[in-house]
Amino acid sequence: MTPSEPVPPAEPLTPSEPVPPAEPLSPVSRTALSVARVRAYESSRPDPLFVDPYAAAFVEAAGLPLPTSGSGGDLAKALVAHGILRTRFYDDRLLAAGADQVVLLAAGLDTRAYRLDWPAGTRVFELDLGPVLAFKEQVLDGIGARPRSGRTTLPADLLDPDWPARLVAAGFDPSRPSAWLAEGLLVYLSPEEAAGLLTAVAGLAAPGSRLLTEKGGDVAATPQDPALAHITDLWRGGLGPDTHGWLDRHGWTTGLTALDRVGATYGRPLSRPSTRGFIEAVRRTGD
Ligand SMILES: C[S@@+](CC[C@H](N)C(=O)[O-])C[C@H]1O[C@@H](n2cnc3c(N)ncnc32)[C@H](O)[C@@H]1O
Repeated sequence: MTPSEPVPPAEPLTPSEPVPPAEPLSPVSRTALSVARVRAYESSRPDPLFVDPYAAAFVEAAGLPLPTSGSGGDLAKALVAHGILRTRFYDDRLLAAGADQVVLLAAGLDTRAYRLDWPAGTRVFELDLGPVLAFKEQVLDGIGARPRSGRTTLPADLLDPDWPARLVAAGFDPSRPSAWLAEGLLVYLSPEEAAGLLTAVAGLAAPGSRLLTEKGGDVAATPQDPALAHITDLWRGGLGPDTHGWLDRHGWTTGLTALDRVGATYGRPLSRPSTRGFIEAVRRTGD
């Protein structure tokens, strides 16, 4: 656990040499590097939907090539477009949630604590497996990055039952509303694991709290691309296309924004209709 107080953001520098993770990242944690590559790519484009000035530092530190435009097949292009749109959508919805406690489940290399303009008094809690959080700190410390919110990191396996108590011990107040993000996480869990995790979240989410996550898809129907097997072979589906229905039945009122609409809203229309989308759920009173 590493609490820190907000200080003004520093100009990020990129490391001159790769500084690989002190402890090797597991295959599922390496998917956080894939997301960082997408964010580095978008940040380098003209008219980006967001700028993550730290994403390239993670990619370079891991010794990976920086992404270039136009590479990859249809699945790669779809995943990149999805990753860009969901980053911007969640940026906007987390700030709009207005909660001063924000929990990033499986935060990976998410730098929202460093790059978003949080209201004074906001604390961002970041939970993920220990090695990925250690790598993140190593890189961010190395470039002198400073968070723009209070920030508490908590190494945790979200499948272990002890993380809710550890989050409370780290300063999270379950009696007050909070905002939760499960971005790029549920698909790596089985239906039972995803349901167990969301049940644990519900136990900490006071009425009025918000939860953002993806509408799942049918992973069995995912097109095969050998270049992406290191990611897609790890997909177990989570709660699938019924994620919002499950939340509705378990004490949340859900809104679903289709990916097409998000693309149109941000001036990035999709080339074909999508069944994907993003869920914003509000914790009901008395459930
Ligand atoms: C695709 S990445 C997404 C990271 C981050 N949410 C983002 O969008 O940048 C998936 C993340 O889930 C984390 N993860 C997977 N299973 C986990 C578990 N059981 N406990 C904690 N973190 C887990 C991985 O370590 C990895 O950082």
